[in-house]
Amino acid sequence: MTLKGTGDYKVVFKESYARVSREDSKERFFDMFYDKFIASSPIVAEKFRHVDLRRQKRMLQKSLVHVINLYSDLKVPEELSYVAALHSRSQKNIEPWLYDFWIDSLLDTVREHDPDYNVDVELAWRLALAAGVAYMKFRYDT
Ligand code: HEM
Repeated sequence: MTLKGTGDYKVVFKESYARVSREDSKERFFDMFYDKFIASSPIVAEKFRHVDLRRQKRMLQKSLVHVINLYSDLKVPEELSYVAALHSRSQKNIEPWLYDFWIDSLLDTVREHDPDYNVDVELAWRLALAAGVAYMKFRYDT
């Protein structure tokens, strides 16, 4: 399917998400995402210096689902509210610009895991993540 910037991105996203979430490659997906994310900036690496990465990967898997759910129904689940508070200035101090590294590392990982990756798949993911990331950034000071 070639949408070229217009069309049903929800379907494109869901299909790509299903391809990269297959049980036999899910583990490798999250390993690669974390490696890329930590290599993306010395500031990101510093934030994770004392954190147990196995726990992080597990948590991220769960919270990615909440980020994505925000896209489809604009409801903020309790778990994401907790995660946002943890990342805010007063706790882990994850500054809003650091989320670009998170998005780009995730997209690089999707590109390497999804055999049908193309520009429409990339846009579908960016749209799907946008609401959740906007929410996380908004909660930096609130
Ligand atoms: C939408 C994007 C993000 C999501 C969904 C997310 C999700 C999570 C989750 C679920 C946890 C574990 C919470 C817990 O321990 O109960 C976590 C921890 C953490 N996140 Fe994020 N995160 C995001 C972006 C970022 C970014 C951009 C950074 C920048 C470096 C970051 C840095 C951290 C750190 C340092 C921790 C560890 C906290 C600790 O246990 O000390 N996160 N994140």
